Amino acid sequence: MELTKLDQIRAAEARLLLSTYDRNPLLFVSGQGVHIINENGERYLDLLSGIGVNALGYGHPIIEEAIARQSRALIHTSNLYYHEGQAELALRLTERTALDRAFFANSGTEAWECAMKLARAHAGLLRSEGTAIGTKFLAIEQSFHGRTFGSVSTTYKEKYREPFGPVVPGVEFVRFNDVADLRAKFSSEVCAILIEAIQGEGGVRPLTQEFIAEAHALTSSTGALLIADEIQCGMGRTGKWCAYQHYGIQPDITTLAKPLGGGIPIGAVLCSDEVERAFHAGMHGTTFGGGPLACAVAIAVVDYIEKENLLAHATGVGDYFQDQLRSLAARHEAILDVRGKGLMIAAELDSAELATLTVAEMLKRRILINCTSDTVLRFLPPYILERAHVDTAIAALDEIFTEYAGAASANRASAHAAGGPHHG
Ligand SMILES: Cc1ncc(COP(=O)(O)O)c(C=O)c1O
Repeated sequence: MELTKLDQIRAAEARLLLSTYDRNPLLFVSGQGVHIINENGERYLDLLSGIGVNALGYGHPIIEEAIARQSRALIHTSNLYYHEGQAELALRLTERTALDRAFFANSGTEAWECAMKLARAHAGLLRSEGTAIGTKFLAIEQSFHGRTFGSVSTTYKEKYREPFGPVVPGVEFVRFNDVADLRAKFSSEVCAILIEAIQGEGGVRPLTQEFIAEAHALTSSTGALLIADEIQCGMGRTGKWCAYQHYGIQPDITTLAKPLGGGIPIGAVLCSDEVERAFHAGMHGTTFGGGPLACAVAIAVVDYIEKENLLAHATGVGDYFQDQLRSLAARHEAILDVRGKGLMIAAELDSAELATLTVAEMLKRRILINCTSDTVLRFLPPYILERAHVDTAIAALDEIFTEYAGAASANRASAHAAGGPHHG
């Protein structure tokens, strides 16, 4: 059986894979810079970068070189032995997060599981030392932390949790940016408050300074932990290594993943020395996590971001992107809001129908974006994006919104001519 053409692959997948994904009918075979290329050699401008993963774009020589070098030397050891990568990477990440210690996993959700286990174990340690502290997690409405059981239990949308119930107990959700609700739900029963400084799947929504400061103050007052999920908003995407650094607060634990390995799967948990007291050998582990290959690539990615000043670049191009979206919003009333930081950007539209249509129309123009939270167009481009790429995207959006507005007013005119809608 030949499996090289899109139709052949679609048919085979429909028969052979679990039906978890509703894929776009596109077969990609290679990539270069900010472009990903399909089987016919057609180039797509990728403003989503594999959902925030391909920070250095495609075919980056730094990544290819790190993979080639490390794969010739050593790919896997297990965590029974030392290799050269983990301490080197931990050095870089502890420095950039202002935390003390690291644990390496293979994905975002695994990093988050470790963070949750650390919080429960830390509360247990405090109880054994005489502090009255419970086991409850406070998560935030619209949060997304992943698909494994712990992560999904702290993920807000019921559609992700409900089919698998009962999920991990002891999680309560606080209304987004509602300080009074946070205060009301916080007590000595809480072992951790779980935040994304800028929610990703929840629609690129930043927490307010007031909310984060209160979460920090409340946790500090009882020995509970503040845990910042930086899997989507961290590692430089917002123009700082961590999005919480825009708020001037320090969490007790943070999690990184997506862009960390530039496309190679790796997740990381960073925590303070105080939190680390809760773990000892054998309490947590992974076969693959923090392997030599993933660490070598992550080190190369971190060093390249630093050397090329990509944080400042993300801020500059991101600000330009938002400015251009705002001028677009001034011309198209369907754009209700433009928000984000650095290269984590959203344009909220006035209908889910228009958002779906816009993603499809952008695809026809060979530009990849996606839609989250029904009405929010999300842009998570590679950090190497240039202003010219932004201009291409803005011109395409302008065309799409103009056509849509034209079609909508033609529909209204014909409805009017036909006697208008009937109200009974
Ligand atoms: C904020 C956040 N946390 C956790 C996850 C889960 O990461 P992964 O898909 O690598 O398991 C995601 C993925 O979208 C995320 O955006």
